[in-house]
Amino acid sequence: MSQFSEEIRKRRTFAIISHPDAGKTTLTEKLLLFGGAIHVAGAVKSNKIKKTATSDWMEIEKQRGISVATSVMGFNYDDYKINILDTPGHQDFAEDTFRTLTAVDSVIIVVDIAKGVEAQTRKLMEVCRMRKTPVIVFVNKLDRDGKDPFDLLDEIEEELQINVRPLSWPIDMGQRFKGVYNIFEEKLNLYTPSKQFVTENIEFKDINSPELENHIGAPLAVKLRSDIELIEGVYPEFDVNTYLAGDVAPVFFGSALNNFGVKELLDCFVRIAPSPRPVQAIERKVEPEEDTFSGFVFKIHANMDPNHRSCIAFVKVCSGRFERNANYKHIRHGKMMRFSSPTAFMAQKKEVLDEAFAGDIVGLPDTGNFKIGDSLTAGEDLHFKGLPSFSPEMFKYIENDDPMKTKQLNKGIDQLMDEGVAQLFINQFNGRKIIGTVGQLQFEVIQYRLLHEYGAQCRWDPISLYKACWIESDNAQVLENFKKRKVQYMAVDREGRDVFLADSGYVLMMAQNDFPQIKFHFTSEF
Ligand code: G4P
Repeated sequence: MSQFSEEIRKRRTFAIISHPDAGKTTLTEKLLLFGGAIHVAGAVKSNKIKKTATSDWMEIEKQRGISVATSVMGFNYDDYKINILDTPGHQDFAEDTFRTLTAVDSVIIVVDIAKGVEAQTRKLMEVCRMRKTPVIVFVNKLDRDGKDPFDLLDEIEEELQINVRPLSWPIDMGQRFKGVYNIFEEKLNLYTPSKQFVTENIEFKDINSPELENHIGAPLAVKLRSDIELIEGVYPEFDVNTYLAGDVAPVFFGSALNNFGVKELLDCFVRIAPSPRPVQAIERKVEPEEDTFSGFVFKIHANMDPNHRSCIAFVKVCSGRFERNANYKHIRHGKMMRFSSPTAFMAQKKEVLDEAFAGDIVGLPDTGNFKIGDSLTAGEDLHFKGLPSFSPEMFKYIENDDPMKTKQLNKGIDQLMDEGVAQLFINQFNGRKIIGTVGQLQFEVIQYRLLHEYGAQCRWDPISLYKACWIESDNAQVLENFKKRKVQYMAVDREGRDVFLADSGYVLMMAQNDFPQIKFHFTSEF
């Protein structure tokens, strides 16, 4: 038992993910209301730039301002300390979300009952699967008509490639929605459409009791019994260990907007969701209960004020206790650093913290010392393994449009890449810089920020590329030959690793066929 076990046991650090519009913001807000962290609905407007199809600078700037406050929302519930990590809604910022997933111990996925599993959820789930992150599914908007729940469960299993186990079950839906039967707690929760905290909770251990008819009427009672029987027959009994191993996702139904099914979700969540889990460093596995502090940077947020180029580096505490004014080692730079005003994030407030424990997120004011993936420890050389960067989807040459500002441009590009805004490759053939992104919006953000924060002007030149592949081979000669043959398509990333820029799927396939001794990776560990 470590001196911090008690603190660590209480912590639940997680992210809510969904396709835009499924109800992530609404659910987050209701959870904060239950935690007493906010008092009015509408207080969390989160990272909402998703609805602006074309980019709207005011929105982006607003979002950047707000998202510092809503990046992490901490609150206490019962005996638990809960940290919700916010993720951007817009798909062009998916990389941000991927990285945030490296800092959480579990995830809640929100699925819209009518729309089912959507593209972005599928992609995010891939990351959860890779990391074996435990997942709970919340099926939202039961106050509207949607898919048959059994069909939806099949769809979730198929599309998200995870086994599911319903822990609550809806009684009808849409206008006729009556409530849910909470299988986990054996309670009947009756629904009254309202945005207040009123749910009627009735202990109901035996759904065969004729009492059920009194509550929901005969036809629905019969249907519920047969549904539950089917569930018990089809899905294995819920075993929390299969959930913790990332093999089975418990499923809840409700309506976030109407505050229905949210408390049930939260009550179950705090009971079953993992407290901070061990984190793998290159050197060894780090246990949260260890006595000494260690952590890593998973997000960097530049400040709004262009005159003070200060950032906040978000550190996930992996082990021990972080203390204000203590000396910690910045592993990449090999130097000791002291932080006099680290911040904690409590719901909408930022405040200076004196200590934080494994599972917590600490904000460190920074002026360019950190980049994503950096490790910070009490002294031991540990390098935490992060999430690989994925091959970008879009590529453009970045060119200097103001020769007087070359230095500013280079510095700006460097810092934006440290923040993880996009990926930079240098073409080995012509020496030109190529920026790779997930979506068009990122190019616009980069151009805007270079101008406003660094006074540099850039221009985008088109380049038609399909994928960036990190290549390696046990045979150095083969690798050299390949690089010579493909010289026009060879680049290096910021770590100096070889990257093959394939301009079409066909070219890539041919290269793979012609060079079987070369491994082509579509992701790279940062
Ligand atoms: P997101 O963060 O996942 O993008 O979704 P968000 O919570 O913003 O919800 C998207 C829309 O769905 C919002 O409506 C929200 O009110 C609605 N919504 C969320 N939960 C429920 C629910 O349980 N039932 C119903 N019927 N609707 C729900 P909007 O009109 O787009 O935005 P707003 O003007 O209400 O903010």
